[in-house]
Amino acid sequence: MAPFAGGNPSPPQFIQRCIESNCHAEYSIEQRLYVCKECGGLLDIVLTGKIPSAAALKSIWTDRRASFEPFDRSGVWRFREVLPIKNDSTIVSLQEGNTPLYEAQRSAAYCQLDSLKLKHQGCNPTGSFKDTGMTVAVTQALILQSKLVACASTGNTAASLAAYAARAGLPCAIMVPSGHVSAAKLAQSLDYGAAVIEVQGNFDGCMATIREISEELPVYLVNSINPFRIEGQKTVAFELMEQLQWRVPDHLVIPGGNLGNSSAFGKGFREMFAAGLIERQPHISVVQADGASPFAKLYDEHSRHPDLLKLEPERDPHTLASAINIGAPVSWQKAWRAVNETTGTVLTVNEAEIADAKAVIGRDGIGCEPASATTVAGIRKLVQQGILKSGDDVVAVLTGHLLKDTDYTGKYHSGTLFSGAVETKFRNQPINVSGAVGEIATVFRRLIDEREYNTDELALQQK
Ligand code: F0G
Repeated sequence: MAPFAGGNPSPPQFIQRCIESNCHAEYSIEQRLYVCKECGGLLDIVLTGKIPSAAALKSIWTDRRASFEPFDRSGVWRFREVLPIKNDSTIVSLQEGNTPLYEAQRSAAYCQLDSLKLKHQGCNPTGSFKDTGMTVAVTQALILQSKLVACASTGNTAASLAAYAARAGLPCAIMVPSGHVSAAKLAQSLDYGAAVIEVQGNFDGCMATIREISEELPVYLVNSINPFRIEGQKTVAFELMEQLQWRVPDHLVIPGGNLGNSSAFGKGFREMFAAGLIERQPHISVVQADGASPFAKLYDEHSRHPDLLKLEPERDPHTLASAINIGAPVSWQKAWRAVNETTGTVLTVNEAEIADAKAVIGRDGIGCEPASATTVAGIRKLVQQGILKSGDDVVAVLTGHLLKDTDYTGKYHSGTLFSGAVETKFRNQPINVSGAVGEIATVFRRLIDEREYNTDELALQQK
């Protein structure tokens, strides 16, 4: 932990503002708030001061890539001109961000696209995109002198908060739905020293309870309803555009759960557009699992009845992609704004589509956790529907690392992920042998003869 070095001479000014157009109440950023005190609307952090010109910003951010100063090396704090944290603050960082943007040939072929880029947020310090938001939220928790940081979680927010709280030396409590969090995510939170509170019920129940408690006690809630989390996560859009040398893709596709991530990308792109850093915005589309899709239902309902815009929570969501098993997303209004402003779309994919897409991403040598694979499954569907064209420039965001849920992956490859008639198309089972040299050599010879580890193999197996 250390203060910024070499920050701006005059740091920009920020306020918190209600996003509801008939309210827009404003608050200082020193106030511990999650929603508007006037109307209960979500809060945005808004820049009120001046920042350097687009050209100057691009050059400052590129220069910092060559710096050895820890906060220049963080993929979040490198963009500190657009973050609402004062230069003399104590920053809590694990050198998050700077995640790879991969060309994924097999995934592209699977989707019938000429090319497809995957921005792998699973390559963050705790293995998910949450770290880019958590570094800012936990820094703000220190600024506000919070006594305890807390969240409700399907596992990744918890692991991330636990790590950053440990770095900050802050007590931390996480609430998770008992029996519905992968072993790896739970193990992370325990190792980082968080108090892990396992609750009967689902994520939405945990979320409602923790919101109530954090109104009463001096607890700092860092779910994505917290606008400082969104600020950190929006920098991923900046980093992506830098990696693309500021050439805007046609489509950006994101998995949707509590809908903080899509909100953050939407805010990032809106701000870059307003600052003249980019000349247009990509279409931002959100993919949900069939069994946990309140946002997709809202989208459908709204396209039939444009005067209706109210999210109906799902009481009993169910998807094996446990990270996004959410029925009452807290940030839906901001995610709606992102999709609506950029004329993107919201769709769902089924469990088999998610599982197969995940295996295909694995075959690219990249891999991800199940929730992330909704993107590739969704892109494939959009191409089939003619909404995306083969030559379109498409980026999908992978949100979590392959090792986050090995139980799911093991079951996929052994054919036990689904009961009943659902086939897993890209199974890869261990080959059991006695250990005799001759027997193993026979296996090797067969592998050499088959030589089928190429994209054609995927095409063949899909038939
Ligand atoms: N992908 C992964 C791997 C996630 O962990 C989450 C959310 C999402 C996608 C959805 O992102 O909520 O911003 O729309 N995980 C939260 C958690 C809910 O508690 O870890 P979102």
